[in-house]
Amino acid sequence: MARSALLNVMVAAAEKAGRSLARDFGEVENLQVSRKGPADFVSKADMRAEEIVYRELSKARPSYGFLGEEGTSEQGDGHHRWIVDPLDGTTNFLHGVPIFAVSIALERQGELVAGVVYNPVMDELYVAEKGNGAFMNDRRLRVSARSDLADCLIGTGLPFMGHGNQVRTLSELQQLFGRVAGIRRPGAAALDLAWTAAGRYDGFWEHDLKPWDMAAGIVLVREAGGFVTDASGGTKYFESASIVAGNESVHRSLLKMVADAGPAKVGPRS
Ligand code: IPD
Ligand code: CA
Ligand code: CA
Repeated sequence: MARSALLNVMVAAAEKAGRSLARDFGEVENLQVSRKGPADFVSKADMRAEEIVYRELSKARPSYGFLGEEGTSEQGDGHHRWIVDPLDGTTNFLHGVPIFAVSIALERQGELVAGVVYNPVMDELYVAEKGNGAFMNDRRLRVSARSDLADCLIGTGLPFMGHGNQVRTLSELQQLFGRVAGIRRPGAAALDLAWTAAGRYDGFWEHDLKPWDMAAGIVLVREAGGFVTDASGGTKYFESASIVAGNESVHRSLLKMVADAGPAKVGPRS
């Protein structure tokens, strides 16, 4: 697959940051047993990865704006903005669980047009650009074809300390438990969306996400032929902080499930 110059830039940045994370991940295991624990070390690894991504992207596209989870922010030309999560799945990383990724998206004139998600431990590189399809390690991706919920594996996220709406989550889960083949919460939203694009999950939904958790994954799911909206079926992903994704049929079922579960708490996570 011949990649565009834009995707090459994004992939180079994701792979470089990913290599740095993979090296640091090796260290984390040694730190698990130390008295201080690995938390400080992990937050440095996170910052290092953001610095690498910022350096690589701004070298290649100096006029573009930048929004990074770890605080890097550039206004740029007002037309282009990178949206970056240097380490999605921090809690996994901290605990030695190899499910984490670098996530980079490009927004052009307010529209998400390219996304790259890289898991350096599994060496899985997901890329997508508007109109050109989605790929994992050069293999074309397609969302799953399953439509019967009873056969479906569904991904989601769960509230954790200080975040999320426990009542709504329990009500949503209650509706699904008995109707699906399985529900998963691996802990890295960018990868959840990439796995939905790859047809591993038949659908995914989560609330209380930030733009950098979902931006790249949205492009991946769309370019893999999937449907992706906010929890009300619209495109205010960032404002609503919620996302529902899957093939057409599973996406519809998940939207209904979320609506039936009760009123969504609108707005960013508390
Ligand atoms: C988190 C992960 C997780 C989601 C959380 C996010 P982080 O991102 O994507 O799956 O449930 O809401 O904050 O903090 O690991 O970058
Ligand atoms: Ca994240
Ligand atoms: Ca992060």
